[in-house]
Amino acid sequence: MESTRAFCGLRRSRSTTSGPGLNLFGSEPTGTHPPVPRLVEKKCSRGFSRYTVRPIIGWRKLHTGIENHKGVNIMNSKVEKALNEQIHAEFFSFYLYLSVAAYFTANHLDGFSHWMRIQAQEELGHAMKLFDYLNERGGKVELLALDSPESEWPSASAAIETALNHERFISQRINDIVDLATAENDHATTVMLHWYVNEQVEEEATADTLFHQVKMVEDSPHGLLMIDRELAGRPAPTEASAEA
Ligand code: FEO
Repeated sequence: MESTRAFCGLRRSRSTTSGPGLNLFGSEPTGTHPPVPRLVEKKCSRGFSRYTVRPIIGWRKLHTGIENHKGVNIMNSKVEKALNEQIHAEFFSFYLYLSVAAYFTANHLDGFSHWMRIQAQEELGHAMKLFDYLNERGGKVELLALDSPESEWPSASAAIETALNHERFISQRINDIVDLATAENDHATTVMLHWYVNEQVEEEATADTLFHQVKMVEDSPHGLLMIDRELAGRPAPTEASAEA
């Protein structure tokens, strides 16, 4: 743009290389790069041009979560949906373990309660790991409504069995998402989910052992209290353990 002289705070142009629809760098926005402010030209009654900066075009797209900061949708929509459902399942796991913890507290087994509460924290970590991953890939996080978990059980082993069955259900879900990501050639998600595959092996094994041990001693308060003391020593999860 060639400007001539200032007039009433406006600038008059002889020829225009920038105008409506052109950005400040003088090029047509393509939508494939970060949006930049645009110049908008208006002429006054005496033919002088006035340029104003229009707010960033494409801003809404950035906030829909459909495109990442490079303006490219890199998240497969089927995988994105499955990961959102898995975030929901992990949050439900958090809820369930918390409910089991409350049940044990009400039954004066504080070691069991402590163990379940730590497990609930782990589940929260699992949900947030997926939450961060979806954001990192430019996907849209959708938080779904949670149902109420069970809150009453006839025995300690029955409560732990509920947790064990839930872990088996989660393992199956993870395997299904790995299958989906592989079929959709979403290699990054497949690799990311390997962490969950390994985690589920450990979580199922731990819940299975606990269930069978409690089953063995269930008729003996002494045995139950011994396990309770042992479970009270479970350390809190660290951030590093969720990233390993
Ligand atoms: Fe996150 Fe225990 O499954």
